[in-house]
Amino acid sequence: MFYRPQDGHGLPHNPFNALIVPRPIAWISTRNSEGIDNLAPYSFFSGTAYEPPQVMFASTGTKPDRDNTKDTVGNIRASQEFCVNLVDEASTDAMNTSSRGLPADASEFDHAKLTRANCETIACARVASAPASLECKLVHIQQSKGAANYVVIGEVTGIHLRDDCIVDGKFDSTRFIPLARMGYRDYALVREVFELARPDD
Ligand SMILES: Cc1cc2nc3c(=O)[nH]c(=O)nc-3n(C[C@H](O)[C@H](O)[C@H](O)COP(=O)(O)O)c2cc1C
Repeated sequence: MFYRPQDGHGLPHNPFNALIVPRPIAWISTRNSEGIDNLAPYSFFSGTAYEPPQVMFASTGTKPDRDNTKDTVGNIRASQEFCVNLVDEASTDAMNTSSRGLPADASEFDHAKLTRANCETIACARVASAPASLECKLVHIQQSKGAANYVVIGEVTGIHLRDDCIVDGKFDSTRFIPLARMGYRDYALVREVFELARPDD
């Protein structure tokens, strides 16, 4: 089949986010001006540069108590910083719980019963149990086409790696099993890893 998004797909559910898979999940912690620690998953997420290291995520849509965006982008606008925590298999339910649209003055850390740890280079909490956390300072927020679509880019200024995930000098994802977002309400656990040398190696 072929369809133009503007004309509709004719399927029971929109296939769009089932086409960009698997997606890593950025579990993003921010702190608002009242000191409330916010946490939410964002799977429109990737790295964008090595030097200096940078990451991006995209926010789509709004929440009722927030002007034209979600808490994460609102907090980043004000604080200019955020932390990306990786999601392991063990955190599946807590990650899902934290996606709830809570009021801006409620913390998803408490709602999902998660332990906070301090960041080193930014004034923000991180998920203590995360296999890795990337502390980021805002580079820019780009408004994208559409009503409330934003692309956020941050420079990574500090990286936490859980010690048990470092094996023979490498960050070993088989030690934590990454959770990935598929389409619809589907997820995948990355259990099988193989190495492939590049032709130029
Ligand atoms: C696995 C997962 C991935 C998500 N990815 C995104 C995303 O990439 N962009 C987005 O705007 N919302 C995404 N959401 C929805 C947000 O997490 C949800 O709207 C949340 O309430 C936003 O919280 P905040 O207002 O505290 O930022 C995702 C939800 C889940 C469960």
